[in-house]
Amino acid sequence: MAAILQLKPITDVPDHRRASANPRDPVFFQSPYAFYDRLHATNPTFFWEEYGHWCFAGFRDVSALLRDKRFGREILHVATREELGMPEPKAHTAAFDLTEQHSLLNLEPPGHTRLRTLVNRAFVSRHVEQLRPRIVKLANEMIDGFEGQDSVDLIKALAAPIPAIIIAEMIGLPAESAPKLLAWSNRMVAMYMFGVSHETELDADSAAAEFMGYLREAIAERRKQPREDLLSHMLTSDRNGDVLSDDEVMSTAILLLNAGHEATVHTTGNGVKSILESGLDPATLFSSDEQTEATVEECLRFDAPLHLFTRYALSDLEYEGLKLRKGDVVGLMLGAANRDPKRFANANTFDPFRTDGANVSFGAGIHFCIGAPLARIELQVAFSELFRRLPKLRLAEAPQYNDVYHFHGLERLMVSWR
Ligand code: HEM
Repeated sequence: MAAILQLKPITDVPDHRRASANPRDPVFFQSPYAFYDRLHATNPTFFWEEYGHWCFAGFRDVSALLRDKRFGREILHVATREELGMPEPKAHTAAFDLTEQHSLLNLEPPGHTRLRTLVNRAFVSRHVEQLRPRIVKLANEMIDGFEGQDSVDLIKALAAPIPAIIIAEMIGLPAESAPKLLAWSNRMVAMYMFGVSHETELDADSAAAEFMGYLREAIAERRKQPREDLLSHMLTSDRNGDVLSDDEVMSTAILLLNAGHEATVHTTGNGVKSILESGLDPATLFSSDEQTEATVEECLRFDAPLHLFTRYALSDLEYEGLKLRKGDVVGLMLGAANRDPKRFANANTFDPFRTDGANVSFGAGIHFCIGAPLARIELQVAFSELFRRLPKLRLAEAPQYNDVYHFHGLERLMVSWR
């Protein structure tokens, strides 16, 4: 199941708690921040008409709900489909559903704890820190590749290749396979869009089937001959005799490839745009390691790449006076929480020197992004190398965001530097 959907309609909502914004309206998804400002001023906990469920825009609520064990990403461990009025799985998305079935993002404890423990070791800070020199080299190779031109689309030329190549290499797939993996991934994540069409479902399913076929071959090779890579590590990882099945390894590898690049690509693009539009001198933003880290955090806060995550209420419950039924969906608005004026001074100002920067772009609680240490290094390197090499970088045209509200990222980012 791709998106978490509100199954039983919610009808008893007073008018003053409702708000409306069409996620497919370009005016909205090009800049959802005007809507967020209105919510913060009047109605941060509201019923979003178009999605048909309750949503939270306030930082305190989003942060608390991400950690609240009464909510989860999975619901079928505590209720039957019949009880929830959930339709049977669709036959034409069987391959896609298989990749999702063992996805960390769709599991709750104890299944989640087991899988996350077996994968986590590869992503801890001290381990991924060893990748920094490789990321620096890669970023410089990318910049070498386009420096001689007058202008370039930074999304294609820098933002997309770095995370895709790094995660492919980490898993143990050749760097040359990155474009192919990226294409499968793009076709699959289309399933998270608002109002997915039948064609999109078919296309995502065939991408999932092709992706699994490719990984099955790599897994068979690693079983014969393990290497020093994450695929081999996952296949041999053993906790008191507990090992991962091939399907679990495949789901995890696909999640890492999908989650591992999409959000990083968008943060790179959004971050460069924020820096260039701020008018601040890039030299001051990357003047030390500490300042580089702070600049990256501000890029993540100011224009988050992922704006909406959902949870199911796992029982009938009450949160701050709001009554929810088992199976009801709540939307946690990360991008809005990061602009909450109750949490951040001058929340709508891009300020890499702020000291109140800790944001929720990587989530919180048990699903907190496993790739955050890696993403932070990739972003620190991409930004600092880019502005070191091309200090006169500027926007060559007004950047436009993609038509996917939840994945908030640029279609293209044309820049010049002469
Ligand atoms: C700027 C880049 C990134 C951002 C903003 C980001 C954001 C997030 C968020 C918000 C979640 C939690 C979703 C939820 O609570 O429902 C998450 C989970 C996850 N992310 Fe990231 N991510 C980024 C990069 C990465 C990278 C580079 C990887 C892997 C290489 C990765 C792998 C994952 C995985 C596996 C999960 C699921 C963890 C779990 O459910 O336990 N992410 N990410």
